Amino acid sequence: MRKRPLGKTSLDVSELGLGTWGLSGDGYGPVVMAEVDRVLDRAVDAGINLFDTADVYGRGAMEKKLGERLPKDKTYVVTKIGTDLDSSPAQKRFDMSYLRTAFERSRDRLKRDPLDIVLLHNPTVHGIRATDGMLFIKELKERGKIRAWGVSCGSTEVARAAIEEGAEVVELAYNVFVATDLHELSSDISHHKVGVLARSVLAHGLLTGHWSPEREFYPGDHRAERWNTRELGIRIGQLAALRPFVNEDIPTLRAVALRFVLSNQLVSSAILGPRSVAQLDQLEREAGEPPYLKDTEMVELAARLKGAGVKV
Ligand SMILES: NC(=O)c1ccc[n+]([C@@H]2O[C@H](COP(=O)([O-])OP(=O)(O)OC[C@H]3O[C@@H](n4cnc5c(N)ncnc54)[C@H](OP(=O)(O)O)[C@@H]3O)[C@@H](O)[C@H]2O)c1
Repeated sequence: MRKRPLGKTSLDVSELGLGTWGLSGDGYGPVVMAEVDRVLDRAVDAGINLFDTADVYGRGAMEKKLGERLPKDKTYVVTKIGTDLDSSPAQKRFDMSYLRTAFERSRDRLKRDPLDIVLLHNPTVHGIRATDGMLFIKELKERGKIRAWGVSCGSTEVARAAIEEGAEVVELAYNVFVATDLHELSSDISHHKVGVLARSVLAHGLLTGHWSPEREFYPGDHRAERWNTRELGIRIGQLAALRPFVNEDIPTLRAVALRFVLSNQLVSSAILGPRSVAQLDQLEREAGEPPYLKDTEMVELAARLKGAGVKV
């Protein structure tokens, strides 16, 4: 498993990281616990040293699982805090008092001291600039209680605000259909040497190319709310832009999608979301080797995506 530096942190992380949202049973529906264990063990055996989670995944159950199952001497865990599930309805909180409690709970569940990488979980710009949470997270770093901190974000404005505050890591969606945020942030990221965790590399499974526009999702699967049949049909049509790149070495659309992400040297790790060992094995095998996509292929892919109506 090849490694890349996580920005200016002194950590070297595997190019493929394992995300645990899908494994938690939240988001995509239930997974049997024995399979969760097998996926975690398989990932460690494959040399994956970066595991992405959040305190809310399974209401803490996934952090607990990672705390019990991962070998601490050869893995790093990224966790995220900032969602208060005890309030009704759940609310985002980035004030010092709440973050302190959340941090201590995560540390107890993960059984690590220091914690490796702690991210603020989808704050707004206001959540970053106008709360005392920043003071707390910086103090954790100064006291050696965390190795690095950053933000998981859904907009360039939030990423920029966090980078201005000194965030060392940003996690954001990055895939062939959703590439503009990272591209717009590239000079800030290079200038400040920020580590980048690319998530949703398969656009929640859409980029496998196995779906029909009529695909139905089980209740509780976040994808049921994400696209209607018309939007799904458009996205599925746009997958035609990827098909010319499938060949003997790059055997599937999934491989094209993953290699697109790995081809970007700003990306420290592609955070995968397999929900079974079979899916993890496919992704690991199909990632292939550098050059993941040649420069000429990247240029042609961008042109084809643009031609298909994708913002690039
Ligand atoms: N705000 C945040 O911080 C945030 C948000 C989203 C994600 N994340 C992190 O990023 C991780 C990955 O995100 P994501 O779930 O959006 O990732 P993704 O890779 O885009 O989508 C995961 C889905 O893709 C399908 N899939 C995965 N491997 C496959 C394979 N080999 N063949 C066919 N289908 C495959 C599965 O769908 P099926 O179940 O239909 O097979 C799976 O549920 C999460 O686990 C989480 O750790 C963080």
